[in-house]
Amino acid sequence: MKNFKKAVCIATLLGSAGFMSNAMAADNLAEFHGENQECDSCHMPDGELSNDSLTYENEQCVACHGTLAEVAEETKHEHYNAHESHFPGDVSCTSCHSAHEKSMVYCDSCHSFDFDMPYTKKWERHEPSIDELLKDQSDRQAALAEAPRDTVDVVVVGSGGAGFSAAVSAHDHGAKVILIEKEPVIGGNAKLAAGGMNAAWTDQQKAKGIKDSVESMYKDTMKGGRDLNEPELVEVLTSHSKGSVDWLTGMGADLNDVGRMGGASANRSHRPTGGAGVGAHVIQVLYDNAVKRDVDMRMNTRGIEILKDDKGNVKGLLVKGMYKGYYWIKADAVILATGGFAKNNERVSKLDPKLKGFISTNQPGATGDGIDVASNAGAAMTDLQYIQAHPTLSVKGGVMVTEAVRGNGAILVNREGKRFVNEITTRDKASAAILNQTGKSAFLIFDDSVRKSLSKIDKYIGLGVVPSADSLVKLGDMTGIDGKNLTEAVARYNSLLKSGKDTDFGRPNLPRALNEGNYYAIEVTPGVHHTMGGVKIDSKAEIMDAKKQVIPGLYGAGEVTGGVHGANRLGGNAISDIVTFGRMAGENAAAYSKKN
Ligand code: FAD
Ligand code: FUM
Repeated sequence: MKNFKKAVCIATLLGSAGFMSNAMAADNLAEFHGENQECDSCHMPDGELSNDSLTYENEQCVACHGTLAEVAEETKHEHYNAHESHFPGDVSCTSCHSAHEKSMVYCDSCHSFDFDMPYTKKWERHEPSIDELLKDQSDRQAALAEAPRDTVDVVVVGSGGAGFSAAVSAHDHGAKVILIEKEPVIGGNAKLAAGGMNAAWTDQQKAKGIKDSVESMYKDTMKGGRDLNEPELVEVLTSHSKGSVDWLTGMGADLNDVGRMGGASANRSHRPTGGAGVGAHVIQVLYDNAVKRDVDMRMNTRGIEILKDDKGNVKGLLVKGMYKGYYWIKADAVILATGGFAKNNERVSKLDPKLKGFISTNQPGATGDGIDVASNAGAAMTDLQYIQAHPTLSVKGGVMVTEAVRGNGAILVNREGKRFVNEITTRDKASAAILNQTGKSAFLIFDDSVRKSLSKIDKYIGLGVVPSADSLVKLGDMTGIDGKNLTEAVARYNSLLKSGKDTDFGRPNLPRALNEGNYYAIEVTPGVHHTMGGVKIDSKAEIMDAKKQVIPGLYGAGEVTGGVHGANRLGGNAISDIVTFGRMAGENAAAYSKKN
């Protein structure tokens, strides 16, 4: 028990029954641990907090309770185990368990589920906007009057896929890097990515005999985006997609499973073998590589303001640590990789009033800070009005059910038990079709062969959102779908599959018949998912101002940027986008820093 001082391992002393009754009585962890501990049981010897990531404090929890994996082993039970490691990175205990106030519903620190958990309170976000923080003139000025707390070549803002790709790449091109993240958990929306990462003409496709080309990926992307995409950015996305897959696999990623996503004319969505979610895996690989390179990563640290010198060149970033307050980091280049704003319904509905009140698939930090930080630095914006709904969020619990379920063979039926759309059309069309059905929802229907083809489905079953039965009539009785029509719809789909053509709805891929083992149904409805617009960048990931002039030293990558996806992003294209533009931003920022 290294570092462990006065704390008594109460859990061990009380045994699990005592632990539970004590936990139920206490309102927070400090209270639960009770009189046996003093401040320095958890904090530094002088009672101070260690840093914004609470590294030291977390070590004290681990010293007593064990690692996350060990706690998971001890707390195995029949329901979903919150401690079981499906988290990327090394999540600190303090991310979910706040010692001096009631713990949060742990899923809410990463997901947008609508489940209640015992002994927790719902996550309520009271985050002041960037502009509100900047009004805090005295604190801001005091911080800026001091010397910078750190000096590096490149600061990366955001720990999603774009941020981690940028940090690793900048490091590998010789830069000293700090990566900051405003949330307590790393990975942004990227860690939630499910269906895959699009890339064309990869070794993985070739090994499976899949015919595809960069040109075909380019055409699909432009068509899906209603031809409103910036062609030179799509050129970068598609021509570097294989390189990005190779870059990740070269660092240890497994992207061997390749499936179909909406709007694609070939199977080009790469994911881990067996069909696990792509995002958590990619983030884990990037995080491990950042750790190996000793990249300085700071959680609970929010990027507030780009700082420039008299000539308009970037000279650093003002940040606000959750515990340490305002300070500034001197840097030649700043990379904004802050993601989108689909979780901020106020911002979303101002731009697209039709989406007012819609639930979202996004993590809590997807509020759009980057848009404000970049605007304040003079950046131009593009395509902000294009906001995408994902067609299939479970009505129960709000879990996003990956498009890969449809790509691997599931069909969509309405309450009347009838198919109504090509299931793997683009998201804008699928979402609109679902909203036209009775009750503004529909049902994903699949069998055991689809379930076995995609391990992600077992996660949805584990969350209790997937009723199943051994016949379609029984499934209808359980879910309120007309069972007779459902039986007919599945039989019709199977006969279309035999004939090789979906003459009813023109679905281009018909991967498997639905006739094996049990049947499953998930009631689904659309939710706000992706914000296509954002900061205007050029094909080197440099951020531009309204006169299309580059802002020297300022780079952008990932969902914070606009132009790559036009009016509607294709499923699987975001992970490709963030890795490609993240790598490029890192490399170019490192080169810029060397010159300055
Ligand atoms: P993010 O991964 O969102 O990371 C941005 C980070 O910046 C966040 O951690 C955020 O908290 C942080 N941040 C924000 N503001 C600040 C600030 N001021 N200071 C410090 N940090 C800040 N795409 C695919 O291609 N394939 C998929 O299968 C797929 N599945 C998805 C499933 C779900 C449930 C969701 C929500 C999205 C999915 N997407 C998928 C979309 C894709 O995950 C995102 O578009 C992509 O991850 C965005 O990456 P990013 O690095 O730009 O941003
Ligand atoms: O459905 C999904 O797996 C989501 C994919 C995406 O947003 O690209």
